[in-house]
Amino acid sequence: MNKADYKGIWNGLAEDISSAKIHVGGTVDEGELSTATLHTLNVLRGTIGIKPEDECLEIGCGVGRVGRGLAPLVRRWVGCDASSHMVKHARARLADLRNVELVETSGFDLKPLPDASFDVVYCTVVFMHIDVFERYNYIKEAWRVLRPGGRFFCDNTNLMTDDGWAIFEQLRTTYSPLERPAHISRCSTPQELETYLTRAQFRDVHSRTRHLWVDAWGTK
Ligand SMILES: C[S@@+](CC[C@H](N)C(=O)[O-])C[C@H]1O[C@@H](n2cnc3c(N)ncnc32)[C@H](O)[C@@H]1O
Repeated sequence: MNKADYKGIWNGLAEDISSAKIHVGGTVDEGELSTATLHTLNVLRGTIGIKPEDECLEIGCGVGRVGRGLAPLVRRWVGCDASSHMVKHARARLADLRNVELVETSGFDLKPLPDASFDVVYCTVVFMHIDVFERYNYIKEAWRVLRPGGRFFCDNTNLMTDDGWAIFEQLRTTYSPLERPAHISRCSTPQELETYLTRAQFRDVHSRTRHLWVDAWGTK
């Protein structure tokens, strides 16, 4: 399968809700998913902040793991995903939340979403699955859909850490080049993400290492 066929790859991984949850959070257990969600909310609080008046967009929202916890804390939460199956599962999982919208996107851009329409855009546990060019395209697109002063956050596994390097080595040695699954993790470095944010015109650009993760964020 072509590495850039994000729609086909992720529709295949999200045929039913159990498979979708496994590929999003490594578990089908709602309790474990919500524990992971609390952790992500704390990461967002500690980097770009969460405000009740925020209109938020998540790029690659999966089954709405983060949306489930974040939507009640903000004015509006929009989740977008390249996979129509993920969008369908997220819509069902979040049906009781009034301020939630779900949008299927191409896998390469945020075209259905208008300019300057969000206060927060974030993308978590997605960059490891997409090509470097899509990473940068999404950061440029985030800048487009953010209002002036809007905040952007992204993360990836961090090649500079021992645990990030272990992931890289394990995947490098497990699969031969022609058998390598299209969606397996590809790490970033803090410098890579900071470069994209700066080149996309974000200001106050920061990054930090958190266990095996790199977080990067900035302001429009
Ligand atoms: C590991 S899941 C993470 C989901 C969610 N962000 C979370 O943390 O719970 C990766 C998600 O990214 C989506 N995805 C993969 N490639 C994408 C792309 N090019 N554009 C948009 N979404 C993509 C997948 O469909 C999947 O829902």
